[in-house]
Amino acid sequence: MARIPQHIVDQIYNAIDIVEIISDYVTLKKKGANFWALSPFSNEKTPSFAVNPVKGIYKDFSSQKGGNAINFLMEVEGYTYAEALKHIARKYGIEIEEEEETPEIKEARDKRQSLFIVNEFAARFFQKQLLETDAGRKIGLTYFKERGILESTIEEFQLGYSPEQWEAFAQEAIQQQYKEEYLLELGLVSKSEKNGKLFDRFRDRVMFTITNQVGKVVGFGGRILGNRKDVGKYINSSESDIYHKSQILYGLYQAKKHIRDDDLCILTEGYMDTIVLHQNGIKHVVASSGTALTIEQIRLIRRFTRNVLMIYDGDAAGVRASLRGIDLLIKEEMHPQVLVLPDNHDPDSYVSEFGPQAFLDCISKEALSFLDFKLQILRQGSVAGDPRAEAEIVKGMASTVAQVADRVQRQMYIRHVAQKVDVTEALMTHAVEEARRQVNKLEARERKREAYKKQQEDPGEVKSLDGFKQLKLAHQERELLRVLINYPDKSIPDMAEDDSLEDEEGNPIEYEQIPLIEIFLVELEGLVFENQIYEQLKQEIFQEFEEKGSVDINRWLNHEKDDLRKIVSELMISTHEISPNWRKHGAFVLDLDENIRRTVEGPLFHYKNRKVEQLLSECQASLKAAQEAEKFEEVEELLESYVYLTNLRKKIFEKIGTEGAVRGSDAHL
Ligand code: UTP
Ligand code: MN
Repeated sequence: MARIPQHIVDQIYNAIDIVEIISDYVTLKKKGANFWALSPFSNEKTPSFAVNPVKGIYKDFSSQKGGNAINFLMEVEGYTYAEALKHIARKYGIEIEEEEETPEIKEARDKRQSLFIVNEFAARFFQKQLLETDAGRKIGLTYFKERGILESTIEEFQLGYSPEQWEAFAQEAIQQQYKEEYLLELGLVSKSEKNGKLFDRFRDRVMFTITNQVGKVVGFGGRILGNRKDVGKYINSSESDIYHKSQILYGLYQAKKHIRDDDLCILTEGYMDTIVLHQNGIKHVVASSGTALTIEQIRLIRRFTRNVLMIYDGDAAGVRASLRGIDLLIKEEMHPQVLVLPDNHDPDSYVSEFGPQAFLDCISKEALSFLDFKLQILRQGSVAGDPRAEAEIVKGMASTVAQVADRVQRQMYIRHVAQKVDVTEALMTHAVEEARRQVNKLEARERKREAYKKQQEDPGEVKSLDGFKQLKLAHQERELLRVLINYPDKSIPDMAEDDSLEDEEGNPIEYEQIPLIEIFLVELEGLVFENQIYEQLKQEIFQEFEEKGSVDINRWLNHEKDDLRKIVSELMISTHEISPNWRKHGAFVLDLDENIRRTVEGPLFHYKNRKVEQLLSECQASLKAAQEAEKFEEVEELLESYVYLTNLRKKIFEKIGTEGAVRGSDAHL
């Protein structure tokens, strides 16, 4: 990879507005010092994703991911460090002078990135064919023009043309030294079984470039010109490391801003529908590209809005697809509506014939709530008054309402539906409960799996050892690190001095100010943290301080070790505004300015207190063993240690008592 010069890297870092960058993915709401959102990394109902604009960091409490804006992009996009930098550079219009790429460099690059590069190249190739070759202009461009597509739209959606030749693309790609392996994997070329030569998969088609939500090219759809029946209407890129059809919504990159602004996502079926609506100023539109709507796609939309208007064909397949979509959407707590356009129109044909205003009017007049839509479908073709048909309708409605996870909401829907179907609320409730049982069964299974996974990760705090309590210190170690990370360079009065702030004559005493980290260095000397990651972090921080005389915690936000980065970012996000649940799990409120010494001493003494208790417990166990083995010398020694430790514990207790250092979080004492 061409190296990005340091001064550009600095420029990029300076340009970063983490709130702006993350807002491309989730809707952030300000609460206190932080911004909060639903995690983009997990499926959650209450926001546990925090961004601190001042510190320039994020922390996702549901997935434990965290770091700065760059790490965020690396996580969410799977970018490398350099790619994340480039993404930001693009966003802020910072130019990166890149060196010429050599084949060796191409080789070395990691695969995903290579695949993206090959696709970008292909997109450029098809676009050039469309705009700069005779055949492209005569055939491809004419086709788009006939369908009312403007050049600006061609530009924005990277539309292209693949010429009516067998090797036009393949030859160009090979000449430019793109790897055969990648060209094949991406489905851009096929290999002849006869002579082993590569030939183009897309021939004589107009090309739709498919991007992910940040605009990277993941694949292509190629449409035949006109209405031939002998070949497939569309050929699409094959699934690859970078293209999973189920996780892509066509047009999301161009639409996401508008979806958020309009708080609505219009979901169409086709490439053309999306493009033509967009061109007509209706820009909050994406396409599922002919596949059934998936959970992953829904979650993509949910980052921007909860409201979805599905526009499907009125044919049987379209109806089935929309019914499936409805249930999935409800389950994911979205609010779906459905629109069936009149006279077999699709959005493209409708807008092209009647114009955008008529289309919008049609939405507001004809769009149905998902309940009305489903009811309408169930009633179609069934004889009114036939009891069996009525029962089918009740059951059909119940199975959809049963997807609503929230109980109160569900009951509201039940009441509403009962009225519409004209049955008693009790009957409808019964039917929904029946349907719900099935849903519950599936969910219980899911929960069990989750719980099991959690248990594997965290075997619990206390383990029994020979009947004695073995205390885990991770919590205390973590709180110490929290202080250290947030205020490494903060100077505080030397605590070894007397507590009172006045001398005998009532004059304020000038204490020597020492950096907080030095206190830690002294107090923690010789103690090794139990948790290996915490210990590594502690050591690295101390080492940096000893080498440089100061500590820049931001260094750890780019740490190559995920674990360290996550912990640092988590500890840097203030937990003041975290929901009661998080607090319960040991969040700790830091208010250094209010009482600096208490803030420092609290975690320190709690840690020491725990450490001593742990040693005492171990000592007790050894004592018992030594006594049983009648090793009296050892017993004597151990007794001495025991007395020493008990005294130490008493001293610490006194300290905690007088300093009032017992703070909310520490329920273990
Ligand atoms: P449509 O047949 O409705 O295509 O398929 P369209 O986009 O409206 O195209 P025009 O208006 O006829 O030009 C809807 C979507 O289903 C996928 C494509 O993503 C298409 O946009 N599809 C359809 C395929 O992938 N392969 C096919 O053979 C047909
Ligand atoms: Mn169409």
